[in-house]
Amino acid sequence: MKLLSDFIHFKEQILRQVDECRLFTANYPLLIEHILREAKMYRAILMEIIYHKSVSRKKLGNMEDFWNRIMMEHALFIRGLLDPTQEQLIETADQYAKEYKELLADHVLREANHYIRLLETEEEG
Ligand SMILES: [Fe+2]
Repeated sequence: MKLLSDFIHFKEQILRQVDECRLFTANYPLLIEHILREAKMYRAILMEIIYHKSVSRKKLGNMEDFWNRIMMEHALFIRGLLDPTQEQLIETADQYAKEYKELLADHVLREANHYIRLLETEEEG
């Protein structure tokens, strides 16, 4: 847990320095944020397992969104790292990113509908 927290702190420092133009890296700032989010999610899961001996249903639900976003970003990173002559692969990566974006939008819509139904049920009851 200490190594993980130190890693998160290190990545936060790198991101801050990149944002302030004090550090140059060939990594996209989004990639640094992405790695930070993955490390924080991993830490959150570990904490839950340590303190509750399992991962809650709510956390699992949040993970679906989390991983859809992570996979969308992977596709975007792949697209950005391809040689400009690899047009077909760029298109494939773009298509993956688009599909994950749609999954995220669908989930947001389903969540909103779920809360609307809950509110309507409360109003009726
Ligand atoms: Fe990743």
